[in-house]
Amino acid sequence: MERDFDTVIDRRHTNSLKYDFALEFGKSEAVLPMWVADMDFQAPRAVAEKLEAVSRFGIYGYSEGKDDYFYAVYNWYKKRFGWEIKKEWMLKTPGVVFAVAMAVRGLTEEGDGVMIQQPVYYPFGNTIRANGRKLVNSPLVLREGKYEMDLEDFEKKLKTGKVKLFILCSPHNPVGRVWREEELRAVGELCLKYQVPVVSDEIHADFIYEGYQHRIFADLGEDFAANSVICTAPSKTFNLAGLQVSNIFIPDFQLRRRVYREIKKTGYGGLNLMGLTACQAAYEEGEAWLEELKEYLAGNLEYLREFTREKLPGIDLIEPEGTYLAWLDLRKLKLSRQEQETLIAERAGLWLDTGTMFGEEGEGFERINIACPRGTLRQALEQLRAALNTFAPLR
Ligand SMILES: Cc1ncc(COP(=O)(O)O)c(C=O)c1O
Repeated sequence: MERDFDTVIDRRHTNSLKYDFALEFGKSEAVLPMWVADMDFQAPRAVAEKLEAVSRFGIYGYSEGKDDYFYAVYNWYKKRFGWEIKKEWMLKTPGVVFAVAMAVRGLTEEGDGVMIQQPVYYPFGNTIRANGRKLVNSPLVLREGKYEMDLEDFEKKLKTGKVKLFILCSPHNPVGRVWREEELRAVGELCLKYQVPVVSDEIHADFIYEGYQHRIFADLGEDFAANSVICTAPSKTFNLAGLQVSNIFIPDFQLRRRVYREIKKTGYGGLNLMGLTACQAAYEEGEAWLEELKEYLAGNLEYLREFTREKLPGIDLIEPEGTYLAWLDLRKLKLSRQEQETLIAERAGLWLDTGTMFGEEGEGFERINIACPRGTLRQALEQLRAALNTFAPLR
């Protein structure tokens, strides 16, 4: 492997949300953070080089992406997913969560239902509630270690006529599912039948483990494209979240206009120059880096899998098919919420995202981010093992 993902880089005192805000989040300063979904790796070299050049130039006026920006994104999706985007479909936003909020505002009215499938990335629910919409949950079902959509429940909820938007997480954070084409078709057909547009958050699409394939929701057919908002970003893929750039594709003119109008209402103008620059550089020159990174992450997953099986009795890994987030099932330990928090934060000294943040279905689970040097992962798991060994007798 050419690139070095093993070196531990000290991220403290860099305004890092992950490393510098433990106290503000009510954690002890000493916790090892494995929560928020960014990586402890430097972005591809080409990104830093392009940013350095822009930085040195010294004039940071209003900026916009030109054709070469569009083609960097176009080529990425065509080459890696076989999906051909059109220029007019694209809206650029400072983040995917921002775009999801704009879609909620633009495509529904106050009081309308917006469906999600919990346990799921918690800003979806927050965004729905904060905008005065009703959260309608069609929970995923865990069967023999694998999460599945409950299509019967999904249709039952659509049938009420109250659901006006569906937010799909594909691949799914936190459970790590990479939805099969049949599954996407099934929910997509139901949404067409009940005329409910689909916001498909595909921010994790570049992290798919061997043996699985990501399908872009809008690429499943023209009717699916015409009924969807596809949210993409280079931020997870290349570790650029602090640069605030995402690319949203809305093939249908009417849907696009409604979302665009909401964006305009906020007063938001154009993307920041560093974000534009980094996004283009990453898509143009970051592919080899990503391939090596994925290999490294697969190694981390293997390490986590073995460690959990052999050294963490009572904890099961829900096998992820994609994403660098892993969903740990602690239910066999039979801990109360408070005991689980004590085990993870106080005894193990870890900062994880606890399962209930993703909905009540997450009770007894923890989400751990494995996009870090193997040594950091080893340390985290050893801390958890030591905590487990001493925790049970103390109960
Ligand atoms: C499913 C999902 N969507 C969106 C985001 C965040 O996107 P952004 O930072 O572009 O708002 C994350 C980050 O963890 C995520 O997991």
